[in-house]
Amino acid sequence: MNNPALWKHLFRMRALAIRKDISTNSLVAKFVALFPEHYDDSDATFNASSRWRAAIRRKLVGHMPETPPKVQLILAPTPLHRLKNLSRETHLDLWIKRDDLTGFAFGGNKGRKLEYLIADALNQNAEVVTTCGSSQSNFIRQLGAACSKHGLVCAAAAMHLPYDNAAGKPTGKHIGNSNGNVLLDEILGIDMHIHPDDDWEVLYTHAEVLAKEYETKGKRVYRVPVGGSSPLGAYAFYQAAQELTAGPFDWIVTASSSGSTQTGLAYAFDGTPTKIQGIACDPEPEIANDFAEIGYGLAQLLNHPRQIPANEYRLDFNSVGAGYGMASEEGREATELMARQEGIFLDPVYTAKALAALLRLAKTKQIEGRVLFWHTGGTPAIFADNQPNAIAG
Ligand SMILES: Cc1ncc(COP(=O)(O)O)c(C=O)c1O
Repeated sequence: MNNPALWKHLFRMRALAIRKDISTNSLVAKFVALFPEHYDDSDATFNASSRWRAAIRRKLVGHMPETPPKVQLILAPTPLHRLKNLSRETHLDLWIKRDDLTGFAFGGNKGRKLEYLIADALNQNAEVVTTCGSSQSNFIRQLGAACSKHGLVCAAAAMHLPYDNAAGKPTGKHIGNSNGNVLLDEILGIDMHIHPDDDWEVLYTHAEVLAKEYETKGKRVYRVPVGGSSPLGAYAFYQAAQELTAGPFDWIVTASSSGSTQTGLAYAFDGTPTKIQGIACDPEPEIANDFAEIGYGLAQLLNHPRQIPANEYRLDFNSVGAGYGMASEEGREATELMARQEGIFLDPVYTAKALAALLRLAKTKQIEGRVLFWHTGGTPAIFADNQPNAIAG
């Protein structure tokens, strides 16, 4: 697809494509499949008269997959701005995408995913939405709020500290089991079922039992995977990339856990020089396989020309600390730096670790140039109780 003339023409079609939520990559792939006679790879020319071009455009866009329906929850685009002081500190041209400021239910990356997931639930005439997560889950909080807004019951299976059996249950500064998101979940009236701490697989089973209980009562249930990470969740982040009007960026750095944030961004920038660096907040290296799976579904949704394999997801595991849900010393330092240099708050489980890793990668020159830190929210967890030393020291 190395045809500059074709890219130039398709770039002009981009405004149209964006209105229809179509990526330029998908446009090119579709174009080549539909009109090989107008595409000459050998002499790199775009081979059609202007009359034909108009006809091609109409036909091409007509062939693109339908945009998934969405409900409106967040106030997008979220702010995008430069971090002047931290740029100086890190020797980067450092920017931030403020998904902590979505304007919905205390912010966070999940609002984007929920716009598509809730629309899907409503299309399927669901009455109850079930999911699972930790008791301080930012996703459950935002799901609860989205359900409230759309007349759905939200039910969740949770553990204070779900963990991966292979990695073992972490010990250290747990962020706390009350207040923070727990308090907000109570206010929202989520049907919350707390189970003893155990492996994630056990938690998924609890969520399925909960869904079945509602079905036994005759309710139509929509099951949402942990963190809203389905192809639809990833689609939301694929779309979010269109908000980066200040690009291009050399790097985008984001906290990564259930994966649809990083997967969506990876597809949005596939084939471009922008690199997506996920900072893992879970210790399990095999999460990249989950990301690939989510991505295969997204590729289908988008009609994307290729599927991104697991080994292409850039994931840094060096800032997980004691484990998922545990605050880290490095994260505390990063939180203080961001607050004291820029007046912006991070959360202890995700964004603090992501910034800590960004600072480390900048120091060792593994990331350079124009860098975007995607703030994925989570700030209510700052106010979780029982966290001596978790944030303050
Ligand atoms: C604040 C915050 N940041 C980042 C993430 C990770 O996003 P994802 O689950 O899409 O990988 C989460 C997920 O729970 C989160 O709550």
